[in-house]
Amino acid sequence: MYNSVLEAPFVKGYVKMANEGYERGWHERNGGNLSYRIKKEEIESVKALLDFSKEFTPIGATVENLKNEYFLVSGSGKFFGNIKSATEENICIVEVDDTGKNYRIVWGLVAGGRPTSELPAHLMNHSVKLTATNGEHRVIYHAHPVNAIAITFVLPLDSKIITHLLWEMMTECPVIFPQGIGVVEWMVPGGEKIAIASSELMKKFDAILWAHHGVFCSGIDFDLTFGLMDTIEKAAEIYVKVQSMGGIKQSITDDGFRELAKDFGLTLNEDFLN
Ligand code: 13P
Ligand code: ZN
Repeated sequence: MYNSVLEAPFVKGYVKMANEGYERGWHERNGGNLSYRIKKEEIESVKALLDFSKEFTPIGATVENLKNEYFLVSGSGKFFGNIKSATEENICIVEVDDTGKNYRIVWGLVAGGRPTSELPAHLMNHSVKLTATNGEHRVIYHAHPVNAIAITFVLPLDSKIITHLLWEMMTECPVIFPQGIGVVEWMVPGGEKIAIASSELMKKFDAILWAHHGVFCSGIDFDLTFGLMDTIEKAAEIYVKVQSMGGIKQSITDDGFRELAKDFGLTLNEDFLN
């Protein structure tokens, strides 16, 4: 159907999002990673261009409900700033085998390399979201936005406290993340332990803050997932500015949040209200 995988709209959407994140300054060096669960018809449209000759490798996690799924993923150690100009060198399509334990690269990373070191976290989050959203969510995005990371050095690492403060920072925040944000204490990145902790929280939340590290977001498509990251980072930036001007003097009340929820037809996470 296409002469190159690069022509497929899902690849173009991925590249656009990765580049936007880079331009926002959320991806120093190789910081951050992005994965997309490819639709059946999308993978069919490029199948003739894929290479099925490589060996399967362990994922480092078991994701049974993702067996035989395909993902577009950034490469480990690859710079987000290079994805737009050298796409095939920096991202890849991986296929999960029929046990959900192994993957192989079927396209991309043409100059060598492997998928992101956070592949276990990405795939475990996809696995949880496939069930929790009935297959609606397809994008998992990890970035290193400055202000979201900064607040984890001064606020208690508590999902309720951080969510409530970020909700207060911009009236639209409870509309964009009504369930709130889950917080993971500092852990070594790249392994199964942080993947398990994150995916547990992803059962409930669409965004997870990794203390002193970054943010993971889940969403239906590239725009919505990017928009969630952008909203969280902007709210965190407002908080940093408010603190630098002497701290909160007045704010939105919990009754205000409840009124907003009623008018916008939201189900706000009551556990995070007082
Ligand atoms: P990768 O280069 O392996 O994707 O790692 C970047 C990162 O942000 C790890 O958390
Ligand atoms: Zn990271």
